[in-house]
Amino acid sequence: MGSLFASACLLLLIIGGGGAAAKVPAVIVFGDSSVDAGNNNQISTVLKSNFRPYGRDFFGGRPTGRFSNGRIPPDFISEAFGLRPFVPAYLDPAYNITDFAGGVCFASAGTGFDNATSNVLNVIPLWREVEYYKDYQNKLKAYLGDTKANSIISEALYIISLGTNDFLENYYTLPSTRSKFRTVDQFQDFLIGLAEKFMKDIYGLGARKMSLTGLPPMGCLPLERTTNFVNGNGDGCMDGYNVVALHFNEKLSGLVKKMNDEMPGIRVVFSNPYGVFMSIIHKPSEFGFEVASIACCATGMFEMGYMCDQMNPFTCSDANKYVFWDSFHPTEKTSRVIADYVMNHSLREFL
Ligand SMILES: *[C@@H]1O[C@H](CO)[C@@H](O)[C@H](O)[C@H]1NC(C)=O
Ligand SMILES: *[C@@H]1O[C@H](CO)[C@@H](O)[C@H](O)[C@H]1NC(C)=O
Ligand SMILES: *[C@@H]1O[C@H](CO)[C@@H](O)[C@H](O)[C@H]1NC(C)=O
Repeated sequence: MGSLFASACLLLLIIGGGGAAAKVPAVIVFGDSSVDAGNNNQISTVLKSNFRPYGRDFFGGRPTGRFSNGRIPPDFISEAFGLRPFVPAYLDPAYNITDFAGGVCFASAGTGFDNATSNVLNVIPLWREVEYYKDYQNKLKAYLGDTKANSIISEALYIISLGTNDFLENYYTLPSTRSKFRTVDQFQDFLIGLAEKFMKDIYGLGARKMSLTGLPPMGCLPLERTTNFVNGNGDGCMDGYNVVALHFNEKLSGLVKKMNDEMPGIRVVFSNPYGVFMSIIHKPSEFGFEVASIACCATGMFEMGYMCDQMNPFTCSDANKYVFWDSFHPTEKTSRVIADYVMNHSLREFL
C-alpha cells in the first residue's frame, strides 16, 4: 500500500516535472519601444529609429527600428533560452513564418495599454497587436499543422512590456485624460483593468507562460531629468514619476498573483526592472558605466528618433560607457544587464 502510494507519487512527480521542464520554443513579444524590434518602420508614424546611429552596434551595424545602439532585452532573453540571439519584428518584410515560428515581436514604440496613448503618435494600439497575433497563429497553423502550432503557442514565453507611455505621453501630457481620471491612482486602476483584459485575451488564444514587465524608474530618463532641470527643480530625477512607477509596479504584481490564482494552467511572472535599473543609475561604475545622467546620442538631454541623427557631432563614440542611448531608451549594455537580471530572477521559472 505504502509502496503503491510512493510509486504513484513518483509517477506524478515525473509527469509534473516533465511538464514544468518543457522547453520554451519561441519568445513572443507585445509592448512598446522597450521591446519593439522594428514594427514602426512599416507604419506611418514619426516615431522611428531605422537609421544610423541607431543599430550601429547591432549585428552588421544595422539599424532595425530598435530604439537602441544594439540589441534590446527580448533579444538577450531569446538567446538565454537557447533560441536565436534576436527576435524579429512581425511587420519586417525580411522575415516570414519560417522565422517567426521561433519567436516574433508585435510591439510598437509609443504604444500603451490605453488606446489614447497609441493615438498620440499614431502607432499600433495594443488591441491591434493582438489582431496581428491572431493572424500569426493562422499562418503558423497553415505552416506547421495544428498540433505543432498549438504546442508552440502554449509553450512559448510571452513577454509583455509597456505602460511608461500611458503616463508620460498620455496622462501627464493630455488634459483630456486627466479630466477623465481625477487622480493618477484612478488612472492606474484603469490601466490594470486593461492589462488584465489583455492577458485574458491572449490566454483565450492559447498563451500560458507570460512575463509581465514592470515600469522602469521613469523619472530618471534623461528627458525627464532635463524637464526637471528646466523647471528649476534641480538636476536629479523626477521623484514624482518614480513614485508613480513604484506604485504601478505594486499593482502589476498584484495582478500577476490574481491571474495565477484565477486562470487554470497559466504561469505568469512579474519581471521587475525597477530595482536593478535604479542601482545602475545610482552606481553606474559598479556596472562598468561612466555616464548615467545624460544619453549617448546628440546632446543626450532631449533627443530621440529623428533628432538623434547620424550628423550630430555630440553623439558619443562608445555607447558602452553610457546607461542611456537616447533621451528615453537604455543602451544595449544596460539592456543586457536588465535581461540578465530578469533571467536570473523571474524567468528562471521557465528555463
Ligand atoms: C521564408 O523565406 C525563406 C527564404 O528567405 C524561404 O526559404 C522559405 O521557404 C520561406 N518560408 C515560407 C513558408 O514561405
Ligand atoms: C480600444 O479600441 C478598440 C478598437 O476600437 C476597442 O475594441 C476597445 O474597446 C478600445 N478600448 C478601450 C479601453 O477603449
Ligand atoms: C546573473 O547570474 C549570473 C550567473 O550566476 C551572474 O554572473 C550575473 O552577475 C547575474 N546578473 C545579474 C544582473 O543579476
